[in-house]
Amino acid sequence: MKEDNIKEDNIKHWDNAAENYIEKNNQGKNFHSQIYLVAVNELLENVNGKRVLDAGCGDGFFSLELAQKGALVTAIDGSDAMLNIAKRKHTHDNLQYYNMDLTRKLTFEDKFFDIVVANMLLMDIAEIELFIFEVARVLKKPGTFVFSITHPCFFLGDWEEDENNTKSYKKIRNYLDERVEELNFWGKTLHYHRPLSRYMDAIEKAGMYVSSFKEPIPSRESVESRPEQEYHYRIPSFVVIMAKSI
Ligand SMILES: C[S@@+](CC[C@H](N)C(=O)[O-])C[C@H]1O[C@@H](n2cnc3c(N)ncnc32)[C@H](O)[C@@H]1O
Repeated sequence: MKEDNIKEDNIKHWDNAAENYIEKNNQGKNFHSQIYLVAVNELLENVNGKRVLDAGCGDGFFSLELAQKGALVTAIDGSDAMLNIAKRKHTHDNLQYYNMDLTRKLTFEDKFFDIVVANMLLMDIAEIELFIFEVARVLKKPGTFVFSITHPCFFLGDWEEDENNTKSYKKIRNYLDERVEELNFWGKTLHYHRPLSRYMDAIEKAGMYVSSFKEPIPSRESVESRPEQEYHYRIPSFVVIMAKSI
């Protein structure tokens, strides 16, 4: 019962944060989103004619991009606030939105999708094992799962500046302790910290294998116009993983 309450609270936080998140994310065009989206798009390659599930789609800007590239897209999220905005702003004949809790069994049949993509979702949900198991179930064999997350090794670390006021180090505390932390970037949301090995184990247990592992960095041009973001070249902020179902 207590667990259920936490999950419901989690979605309520996203309902409350939706407007702020969407404004700051600016349809994936903000500096940080671009870092991982470039890597995600490289891994997805050609999606034309593919059946794609966008899990944790938020306002659906990425789902729309996939549909515009010719994919048949099913986009799911647990937040009605997010989905209402998605249905208003990001529509396409090849794109359907549904409300679904990604910590429960998905309602799709086995081997339905060619690709599942999940941007910035897995560190926001309380359980990843069932979700990744469900991804493997709904994927064709072979099928592709691409997800981006904040870097589990460094995200919760505190920057330390050197004598030149340069962000050079991060202090990492209790990396192996799984825990929930409150964030306040867009209003309160929950961050589920788990070590990187938990993601790898869940992929392996679901019968998939990791075919690509990226720690993406921003382009030189983007850092030229935002020199204060140069620290991304020292310590990566994101991980993008591609796993294959077999
Ligand atoms: C950081 S946002 C990412 C949204 C989108 N993928 C993007 O890149 O902008 C995380 C999303 O996960 C959704 N979410 C969090 N927990 C969820 C759950 N248990 N079931 C379904 N969606 C969930 C939130 O509503 C939110 O839209």
